[in-house]
Amino acid sequence: MKKWKNFLIEIDQKTAVVSFNRPEALNALNYDVLTELEQILDELHKDDSVYTLILTGAGDKSFIAGGDIKDMSRMNVEEGKLYAYTGTALLRKIEEFEKPIIAAVNGYALGGGTELAMACDIRIASEKATFGQPETGLGIIPGFAGTQRLPRLVGKGMAKLLIFTAKRIKADEALRIGLCEAVVPPAELLDYCKKLAAAINENGPTSVRLAKAAINHGLDMDLRSGCRFESFVFGHCFATEDHREGTAAFVEKRKANFPGKYKK
Ligand code: COA
Repeated sequence: MKKWKNFLIEIDQKTAVVSFNRPEALNALNYDVLTELEQILDELHKDDSVYTLILTGAGDKSFIAGGDIKDMSRMNVEEGKLYAYTGTALLRKIEEFEKPIIAAVNGYALGGGTELAMACDIRIASEKATFGQPETGLGIIPGFAGTQRLPRLVGKGMAKLLIFTAKRIKADEALRIGLCEAVVPPAELLDYCKKLAAAINENGPTSVRLAKAAINHGLDMDLRSGCRFESFVFGHCFATEDHREGTAAFVEKRKANFPGKYKK
């Protein structure tokens, strides 16, 4: 993979670790970062050797310190809207990315940092992580879908509490309210996420991707429609090599060796 200005990428054992690397601004999301991440996602989408992504911040201080406040201080109404559209579209791309994406939240995850983490499938936080939506303290509101994903994740009242007060919370509080799934010591964060990715990678990659789609789309539907959608996706699994290999391995009492391909 080519060299990126704002990212470090390491691919090993079917997992790509994508590290935000803009230390001078604590990994704040300017247009440059958003554009590069979009290109990286396109490349990793096409790379069949990659099953799972981990998004993290380089160093141990910051995951992402939010949208770029210096840039935002100069924006007018139209520019503000465009910036929000751009960031929101990228986060939707993360959410809808076929392969699972784990956020390894290593430090500050403020504003766009919390928003980006929420677009990932699973959030693992370091004990040093800080979450929050500080936008109202800057005279704006969350613009990368924070007002939408936060209440869906932690409930309406807690989302309002966090957004209205602009309060920052520590990892243990984030865990308590369901904003992250686990908290681990800083030195263990990446290893923990790699092991988690490896556990995911052992399963049928096509099944994992279809399960992701079923969960995400189902949550946007009423229960009946979601169940119906799941039945269609379940049926679709029977056209995959993953299904043939996974069920055969059980019957033959051996470990499955998933090819991760649709049956021709
Ligand atoms: N946008 C642009 N630049 C940012 C930034 C952001 N969101 N967050 C940090 N930076 C820059 C700082 O301006 C500073 O640059 P400078 O040295 O050129 O002045 C550099 O990153 C280091 O930040 P600094 O504030 O000195 O570090 P700190 O350790 O004292 O504080 C934070 C860290 C994260 C608490 C603090 O930077 C902060 O509150 N950032 C903004 C968080 C936020 O409100 N995000 C939501 C945006 S919508």
